[in-house]
Amino acid sequence: MPPGGRNVQRTLSIIKPDGIGKGLIGEVVRRFEKEGIRIIAMRMFRLTLREAEGFYAVHRERPFFGSLTEFMSSGPIVVMVLEGDDVISRNRALMGATDPKKADKGTIRADFADSVERNIVHGSDATETAETEIRYFFSDLDVSE
Ligand code: RTP
Ligand code: MG
Repeated sequence: MPPGGRNVQRTLSIIKPDGIGKGLIGEVVRRFEKEGIRIIAMRMFRLTLREAEGFYAVHRERPFFGSLTEFMSSGPIVVMVLEGDDVISRNRALMGATDPKKADKGTIRADFADSVERNIVHGSDATETAETEIRYFFSDLDVSE
């Protein structure tokens, strides 16, 4: 990228079942829009346990895998494709640290999350994972240019 050049990226955002349960769809969307982040695709549905296991396959060996996938399939989620300059890290900054007790004040997780697991939102952590995660939920036809 040339110095001062733009670095337009896409990332996957999920409002998790706790975020839906707390009525935070509008609040999360508002925070993205206020930052000038574009929402270019959006769906709402409930994952089966198998689908949640597929999405979180990288965490298969972690002790929290069973609990995490049960939680993620416990109710509807909203999945979005976000687009913008450096949107992967900007979305992670808006989300805050995984553990809400360690998250900076004013972040989504600090403001609303109950625990390290029930932490309201997901965001891809790198360009490769963003691509894989977007493909898990969306076809090219779903994404508006
Ligand atoms: P995410 O993938 O959801 O955006 O969150 P993250 O990168 O901040 O956290 P990650 O390490 O990728 O973990 C994925 C999700 O698993 C749950 N988790 N539980 N009980 C625990 O110690 C624990 N650690 C992680 C959280 O829901 C986390 O977002
Ligand atoms: Mg992660």
